[in-house]
Amino acid sequence: MNLLVIGGGGREHAVIKSLKKNKTVEKIWCLPGNGGIAQDAECFPIKATDIEGIVAFAKEHKPDFAVVTPDDPLCLGLVDRLEEIGVPCFGPTKNAAILEGSKVFSKQLMEKYNIPTAKACVFTQPDAALSYLKTCDYPTVVKADGLALGKGAVIVNSFEEAKGAVEDMMVKKIFGESGSRVLIEEFLTGPEVSVLSFTDGNAVVPMVSSMDHKRAKDGDKGLNTGGMGTVAPNPYYTPEIADVCMKTIFLPTVRAMKEEGRTFKGCLYFGLMLTPKGPKVIEYNCRFGDPETQVVLPLLKSDLLTVMQACREGTLKEEEVEFEKGAACCVVLASDGYPQKYDTGYEITLPKTSEGEEIYIAGAKRDGEKLLTAGGRVLGAVAKAETLEKAVTRAYELAGRISFANAYMRRDIGKRALDALK
Ligand code: AMP
Ligand code: GLY
Repeated sequence: MNLLVIGGGGREHAVIKSLKKNKTVEKIWCLPGNGGIAQDAECFPIKATDIEGIVAFAKEHKPDFAVVTPDDPLCLGLVDRLEEIGVPCFGPTKNAAILEGSKVFSKQLMEKYNIPTAKACVFTQPDAALSYLKTCDYPTVVKADGLALGKGAVIVNSFEEAKGAVEDMMVKKIFGESGSRVLIEEFLTGPEVSVLSFTDGNAVVPMVSSMDHKRAKDGDKGLNTGGMGTVAPNPYYTPEIADVCMKTIFLPTVRAMKEEGRTFKGCLYFGLMLTPKGPKVIEYNCRFGDPETQVVLPLLKSDLLTVMQACREGTLKEEEVEFEKGAACCVVLASDGYPQKYDTGYEITLPKTSEGEEIYIAGAKRDGEKLLTAGGRVLGAVAKAETLEKAVTRAYELAGRISFANAYMRRDIGKRALDALK
């Protein structure tokens, strides 16, 4: 089989390394990929949002199966386009990807089908939003409707802060058209859990749960980032809670999408908050999370390609998706200064890895034999072990053997999870 993978981050590197375990896979093309992924796939500099470029590439190379991972091409309808030219795909069609593409859509879906989530009001005019904000309790949450590089949700502590967020989104349009509608949402509290799931539109099979660390600095301080590290499983996500989520959130969501004529096939990501009133949905993503994927896929015992094909064919069975009992930890090494200003172009020295260790490259480019830093998040050092404590220690040991100038990492990935276990 020849495969096509769209995207170019650490998540895609993890997906590709997992796909390669299937003996029938001969070749993987990755668009655009990156300098690290280039060791595992043939990369071409076609952007993930260049739908026409990707379709032309697929027509020429005729892949047997394609995996579309990032949100933008999914929301732009890349899966529809590739399927039209006969390339079977893993990933939702455009009308299903709206679950992530529009927070107004997903909020209305949850309200209509009684899926637990934060209460919210939708505004299309800044004045109306501001009048409402005068009557709100704080903190509250202001969210842009559309995709905003993960930065579209702002927790505000006062009317003044809320006003700033509304003006940024609706008037200054810092997220473009994504901010033409905003949601003002009730502030929820409780531990957050990421649950990625496989779904074929009818069955939904959750993967091992995980915990992201979104803030730049230790102790969950500093700016929001794309994610500074992850652990799996998430100790807050007990079997009892998993049962409740399946009954009140996972199955109802998949059924609701089908009912709406928007059957969702692919990876459905549930961003949950375990509130005192039970688990509630904070967000849906229509794709694998990054860096959740980097800890979830190493624990997958089943063959990823087979599971992905079953999602597309509508033949997904719970018993065919198996995870290891152990734990995994991913420590992200970033360029110092990320998520703001940072320098790149430094040589990366990678150590040899042993069984149970992986290095997934997110932001790097090739320069002859050398690998140079080329992004904010440069790579993820991932290790698994029989316990979470050992996995965290091992991931930090691995991270310590990797070097590049200007490297920055959080020192407390997994701490909160380990504290919860005590
Ligand atoms: P989102 O872009 O919707 O994933 O939100 C990003 C982050 O903002 C989440 O991971 C939460 O930490 C936080 N957040 C979003 N919505 C809420 C809410 N209603 N209450 C509390 N925190 C929230
Ligand atoms: N790690 C969160 C996300 O992928 O959106």
